[in-house]
Amino acid sequence: MLGRIMRVLREELPDALSPRYWYHQFLRWKIHRVCIGYSGRRHWRFWKELLYWRRPRKMLILGVYFGRDIAYLLELRKQTGSICEIVGVDKFEDRFCDDWPEDLRGKNWAEAGFGKAPSLQAANRNLSRLGHDLSCVRLVSSRAEDFLRESDEQFDFIYIDTAHDYQSTVEIIGLCMPRLAPGGLIGGDDFSDQGTWGVVTAVKECFSRFTTFGNSQIWMAEGLDWKGAPPPA
Ligand SMILES: C[S@@+](CC[C@H](N)C(=O)[O-])C[C@H]1O[C@@H](n2cnc3c(N)ncnc32)[C@H](O)[C@@H]1O
Repeated sequence: MLGRIMRVLREELPDALSPRYWYHQFLRWKIHRVCIGYSGRRHWRFWKELLYWRRPRKMLILGVYFGRDIAYLLELRKQTGSICEIVGVDKFEDRFCDDWPEDLRGKNWAEAGFGKAPSLQAANRNLSRLGHDLSCVRLVSSRAEDFLRESDEQFDFIYIDTAHDYQSTVEIIGLCMPRLAPGGLIGGDDFSDQGTWGVVTAVKECFSRFTTFGNSQIWMAEGLDWKGAPPPA
């Protein structure tokens, strides 16, 4: 606990002296009241820097859940003057995800102890409740793999936040590459190999170079650094 407090202080103290910092905390708090989720201050900072420095015109978010990352993006889009279009894809099912342990796979989200299942209606409702102009957002109910196989769109940034097991991550990265615009960036959340996750191994196998954002578990790689699909296990 003390370690966590010290970490937050070290990371946030320089900014906490500015009124703008508190205004952004307030904006995040408003979003958290509406959209449950796992993203927090590091994700907020990541999105802000991405919109500001990379100026993407079209982004794909794989894994919408209740819309928190997209709500962050919509708010920061206004703050940074971005004109980015956002496509969000989620399977929106009350069934297991590929990184669930074997013994939970026959259960639904509530039975497995993961709370309410995400749904397209809830995600749309949440974003509408936050009062944003939604003309730049399209939410799609589909498995990421199917969407990527069927789409012919190009994205400047693709964010992978679906199941985090090794197999899905490698497969989804491979399917993303033809959908990445020239000069595009790809990234994702939960850069970890703990438990059923295998994002670290997958990213290391797929890219010759990659970085993680600050102290977060967000990874990023330039499309140009893709090594090609690793051989099947
Ligand atoms: C960690 S949550 C995403 C959090 C989200 N980025 C946010 O803003 O709160 C993971 C989501 O991925 C979805 N998911 C898991 N596997 C998927 C797949 N193969 N295709 C599409 N969505 C998937 C789940 O339904 C769940 O909503």
